[in-house]
This record gives sequence, structure tokens and C-alpha cells, in this order.
Amino acid sequence: MDVRPHAQWQTDVRPPEALVPEADLLIINAGELVTMAGGPRKGARMKEVGVIKNGALAAYQGNIFDVGSTEEVLARVQTGPTTRVVDARGRAVIPGFVDPHTHLCFAGDRADEFALRLQGATYTEIAARGGGIMSTVKATRQATEPALLDLGLRRLDAIALTGTTTVEVKSGYGLTVPDEIKMLRAIKGMAERHPLDIVPTFMGAHELAPEFKQDREAYIRLICEEMLPLVVAEKGLAAFNDVFTEKGVFTVEESRRILQRGKQLGLRPKVHADELSDLGGAALAAEVGAVSADHLLFASEENLAAMAKAGTVAVCLPGTAFCLMNVPYANARKMIDVGCFVAIASDFNPGSCPAYSIPFIITLACMHMKLDPSEALAAATINAALAIGVEERVGSLEIGKQADVVILDAPTHRHIPYKMGQGCVATVIKRGRLLVDQGRLLQRGGR
Ligand code: NIG
Ligand code: FE
Repeated sequence: MDVRPHAQWQTDVRPPEALVPEADLLIINAGELVTMAGGPRKGARMKEVGVIKNGALAAYQGNIFDVGSTEEVLARVQTGPTTRVVDARGRAVIPGFVDPHTHLCFAGDRADEFALRLQGATYTEIAARGGGIMSTVKATRQATEPALLDLGLRRLDAIALTGTTTVEVKSGYGLTVPDEIKMLRAIKGMAERHPLDIVPTFMGAHELAPEFKQDREAYIRLICEEMLPLVVAEKGLAAFNDVFTEKGVFTVEESRRILQRGKQLGLRPKVHADELSDLGGAALAAEVGAVSADHLLFASEENLAAMAKAGTVAVCLPGTAFCLMNVPYANARKMIDVGCFVAIASDFNPGSCPAYSIPFIITLACMHMKLDPSEALAAATINAALAIGVEERVGSLEIGKQADVVILDAPTHRHIPYKMGQGCVATVIKRGRLLVDQGRLLQRGGR
């Protein structure tokens, strides 16, 4: 892995003085500027978040071109009438959050199931009765592409207010050729219209389509021979191919076929692994070189070690454990000990986690998975970016990267879990432009 200390990284790539443009964005007086410089981190390095005291940052046309102390940056950077100067007034400045696992494209809701689960019904029991994912599949199949687009844009607006600047979104509530394509086109529409960056994932293998209950093989063939080729044929519909490897959903063998076929066609694998049982999803993820394996509540130490060796990111979804109740949280400490890159995500979906706020997810990660606040922030920024292949562009505040920045309403990043995820985001800047100011959204995606 390429790990360069911050100072050297700056010296390496800062453009010669003659080429330094006039800043169009200058953030000054950050009580702490959390750079997260030096690439994705694992082991003891997860705690090193690269803090610059009284920090500043300069950007031009959406990209960062200087980072340092306020004194240094003011001495180096030219400003003019078009420079927007943002005074952080001693508050903490951090990279925008990256949410590497959501199912935010859906219709309907599942509040009724939530009430049933409060009475003791389990997620699996509800699914067996035709509820769960299938109830959202029904609602999503009935929705038009413009309706899904509209719902998605409004959700992205709400997500932006919580400080997330890059979001992965999966299909998987269609489960027919036209409905999966409809979802992916709605997601593409969100990416075209919304200021947030969207990373799309195809998940035709989210559940066995109900029409194929008597013929699993035919559904797997449909995914491999029709859905996947169509998805890759249309530019920008998906970057990843995800499978729900679970008892009663897809076996390890079936998942392997679907992931290998996607790989052949150019889609990198992802796995919903060992969420409800230790089926071997984590081992499969390592075997096929998946970019990430997500959930991992029941993953064995041996399989986590295999993931570490393969460089497969372990994505923990503590909001899901919180919402499912009566399940253990993923063993993030073990993942760090065995050398995995650990990321956290919301898993925002209408069933197992209706929460999308990453500050709230960070709180859960600290309180229930025993991550230190610095580790949790690394997991929600640079490591999350690695889990969706965008670590070169986002996830840290370094020269050459996108100016995706959050100003907290707090003096340090350690206040995020302490404030229990509430009221910590004051300002959000996306590609150098103000998106949220004092808790107000300035550029709307939704109507
Ligand atoms: O990641 N595990 C499968 N998929 C989702 C749940 C989606 C749903 O319940 O609608 C998850 O938890
Ligand atoms: Fe999920």
C-alpha cells in the first residue's frame, strides 16, 4: 500500500508557484483540520487521522490544492474577488462522509414490520411470511422510474444534511430484467441530477425472485445470461455486482457463479456476507477478490483473516444490528487485529436499517463495536472510499482530491459520537461548492 506521510505528500505534488491558481474556496481557522492523509488505513494506523491544528484548506474548481496551518496556507495561496473565504472559527473540519452501502432506491415503507419485530418477530420469520425484502420488491415493481428517481433525490437531500458527500446505491428490489434496469436507471438519474457523488451497484441477487421459487437455477441463469450483460451494456449503470449470500437466499456456490460472471463482464464483486449465519460469505469474498464483504456479524476469525490477505474491505453496518435487535454487532476489533481494512456504512433500507445518518452510525460503531472515535471516522471516510473504489478521489483532505468537506458544529471530531450523531454538521461543501450552510440545504436535488 502506498502510505506517505502528510508533509512528504504535500512536497511531492504541490504545483510550482507559477502554476498555483487563485483559490475559489478558502477554509481557514479550523480548530482541527482532520486530513485523513496517507491513504486507507488498517491496524494501529486507523487511529492516525492526520490532525492539523488551526488548519486551512484551499481549493480551485472543486479540487484541493493546498492544505496546512492557516498561517502557512494564507502565506502561500493567492486570493481575489472570486474567492469564497469560509471561517471555521475554531471548529473541526473533516472530509465529507462516504457511505459505501445503501439500498436507498425503493418505494413504500415497512413500519408495520418494525412494529411486529418490536413484538418479537424476527427478520427471517417476517421474510418467510412474504414480508421483508419481498414487500419492498412489490412496492418497487409498482413504482415508475420517475417516481423512484424523485424519492431517491429527496432522500439524497436528507442525507446531504448529515454530512455524507459520496453514496453507494444498490438495485435489488426489482428482481426482473425490466425492474432491475428501471432501478439502475433511476439511480443513474440521481447521479446526473444530485450534487452528491453516487456509486451504483447491481444487486439482482438480493433475493430469489418469487416467480422462480420452484426453479432457482433459472433465476441464476437469468442474472448471469440476461441481467448482467444488459447492465454492463448500458454505460454507467453499475460499478459493482453484489450478492446476498445467506441461508435461504443464495448459497456460496450460486453466489460464486454470479460474482464470477459479473467479473468476466467487468463488474467488481461485493458480498452481503455472514449477516445472519456463518455460511462462508467472507471466505467467498476473499476467494473472488471482492472489493468488500459487508455485514460479517457471524464471520469466523479464519475467514476474516482470509479477507485481510485478499485486501477485501470489511464493511460493518452497526445500524442494522441496532435495528434488527437480538443479533450481535460485527466484531470490528477482531477485524482490525487480523489486519482488515475496516469501513462502516449505513445500509440505509426500508427494513433492516431505516437510518442514513453517518454521525449516528459512528456513534453506534463507538458504543457497540468499540471503535475509538478516530478509528470510526477513518472507517467512515477514507476506508469507506476504498470499499467502493473511490479512495483516489475522496475520503481525505489532500492536494489533488475533491474538495468534499464538512465543518462540524464542534471543536473536534471526537464530538461526533459524543453528540450521539445529533447536530454535529454545520456546513457541507461538495466539490468546492457550499451545499449545506448552518444546517440549511442550498442546492436541492429533490422537488
Ligand atoms: O443489507 N441483507 C440484505 N439486504 C439488506 C436488507 C434489505 C431489506 O431488508 O430490505 C441488508 O440488510
Ligand atoms: Fe445491505
